[in-house]
Amino acid sequence: MKIPGLKDRKYNCGQLRGANIGERVILMGWIDNLRELGGALFLDLRDRYGITQVVFSKEKDANLLQKVQRFSREDVIAVEGTVLSRQGNVTDKISTGEIELEALDVNRFSESQTTPFPIKDEISSNISTRLKYRYLDLRRNPLQNKIIKRSQISHYLRSFLFNNNFLEIETPFMVKNTPGGARNFIVPSRLNPGKFYSLAESPQIYKQLLMVSGFDRYYQIAKCFRDEDPRQDRQMEFTQIDLELSFADMDDVMEFVEKMFLDLWSKLNLEFEESDFPRMTWQQAMDKYGTDKPDTRFGLEHFLLNDFSRNCGVGILEKSVKSGNLVKGIKVPGGSSKFSRKNIDQLTSFVKKEDIGGAKGLIWLKVEENKLKGSVSKFISQEKQTELINFFKAEPGDIIFIITDKPSNTHKIMDNLRRKLAKDLELINPDKYSSLWVTYFPMFEKNEEGAWTSSHHPFTHPAAEDIDLLGTENQGEIKSLAYDLVINGNEIGGGSVRIHDSELQSKVFAALGISPEKQQELFGFLLEAFKYGVPPHAGFAGGLDRLAMVITQAQSLRDVIAFPKTVTGIEPMSGAPSFVEKRYTKELGIDIKPSLQ
Ligand code: AMO
Repeated sequence: MKIPGLKDRKYNCGQLRGANIGERVILMGWIDNLRELGGALFLDLRDRYGITQVVFSKEKDANLLQKVQRFSREDVIAVEGTVLSRQGNVTDKISTGEIELEALDVNRFSESQTTPFPIKDEISSNISTRLKYRYLDLRRNPLQNKIIKRSQISHYLRSFLFNNNFLEIETPFMVKNTPGGARNFIVPSRLNPGKFYSLAESPQIYKQLLMVSGFDRYYQIAKCFRDEDPRQDRQMEFTQIDLELSFADMDDVMEFVEKMFLDLWSKLNLEFEESDFPRMTWQQAMDKYGTDKPDTRFGLEHFLLNDFSRNCGVGILEKSVKSGNLVKGIKVPGGSSKFSRKNIDQLTSFVKKEDIGGAKGLIWLKVEENKLKGSVSKFISQEKQTELINFFKAEPGDIIFIITDKPSNTHKIMDNLRRKLAKDLELINPDKYSSLWVTYFPMFEKNEEGAWTSSHHPFTHPAAEDIDLLGTENQGEIKSLAYDLVINGNEIGGGSVRIHDSELQSKVFAALGISPEKQQELFGFLLEAFKYGVPPHAGFAGGLDRLAMVITQAQSLRDVIAFPKTVTGIEPMSGAPSFVEKRYTKELGIDIKPSLQ
């Protein structure tokens, strides 16, 4: 066989059908499987489009059969043959199940050693081996399909933005180091000894400056870098679908993003819930779900019980409210019979776990005909029992769980409890996509050291009615014109209306404790730019990796990133990060030990 090339590959391994019977074709791909049966060898040839069965028989060509008997799984070959009907052996397990290829000739491009794990859909190999041989893991359908889906997602988003007059403009990766946001990766500058760039955590400032330049509608599928510990939904380098619009307000951006997502969903043949994109303020989300990224595929909303608890008769609740704590309850309809003492004990151990919030206990009350039965019911008067039943709109057979703790902890525990109950009671339909906007986040929050930080970023516009609180001790109450898009309990994207006024921007920096001198040093270029005519502008950035994770129902971002990092920041295949030779660090003026000589 003359060595075949791309021009000879008129069909792929997932393409041949009954209509091709009788054609002479050349297929190329990997040997997925080889089986010998009654003087014939059946070879499954695989590429990313599918599998075609190829038959080598003694009768047809004994020499060819002998040649192929030496081949192994994962060898890369080209086969020339005639498309035949499978007749009685038609299968619908593969797209080419109507036909098989009767081999006439074969060429082996490359041999494969035995792979460290089988290339099949279900495998039990450990993740570190799979990550070390990532290129082999990526040959398996479950991963390959996710990466293909991701490519489609970015294509559809890109074309939607292009069709809506957005310009794709690249912004620098190596940028000035500015504090405040995520921890940055820093890059030493050889040409400017002692100085460093940061790897951009997002294109935020640059996209705003593009609005100052008059580009009007910008987008970029942008790589972002943040030196954070990777987790199931977080990577150190990730991708945003980043956009910015001039003369836009909050509604304009949200409506536009909704259109973009509905378009994406329809192209992917997925369905959103009927109540598309409901909106909820941050405060409402915290009250109802205890989190700013609630999973709204199921109910089990929280009830605020501070008013009820004040004189409820239950000492711990009364005391807790007095000391400024928060009391919240959750009702599981029909839950009484589902929670035995043992189940309740298990749930109690769950809420007591440190990472869940470390609850001191879990109060439970089973609802009976106009009365409650449970851990503290004997302390609650009949009147108060009726009040609670009415407040929860509870029916006999329901169960109520109550938690009290510091407000932030109560939210956290109750969020965890809500999600656990939904999982245990199998209330989540994985094929349902439920979205919402969470709006008006607090402008500032205090970090662990008690210093003010931006909840979103310092370029976010405060709500007009709260601007007067800037710089006062009540600035924690300022709401910002920021919004997050949440799908199935994942923060898929976020954005805000931006400050476009030098003076207001400077006030916000000052509220964050940045002195006028430091403002000039760090952000002087932005404050200067705002003096030359700036359109009001607003924008949004979606996390492409998270979006792909949700759409492909993957368990981790790792499954939708071709070459991800582990939780310890390592890329196991190449071994990055690695020590470098001393001469490189020397050239950069940084002396790092240990290093290679
Ligand atoms: P933000 O920091 O909220 O906003 O990021 C926007 C979206 O990016 C995704 N994301 C991540 N995905 C994976 N790994 C990470 N470490 C990670 N961090 C963030 C999330 C998030 O919602 N410049 C602003 C946007 C704007 O205001 O326009 C920004 O970066 O899905």
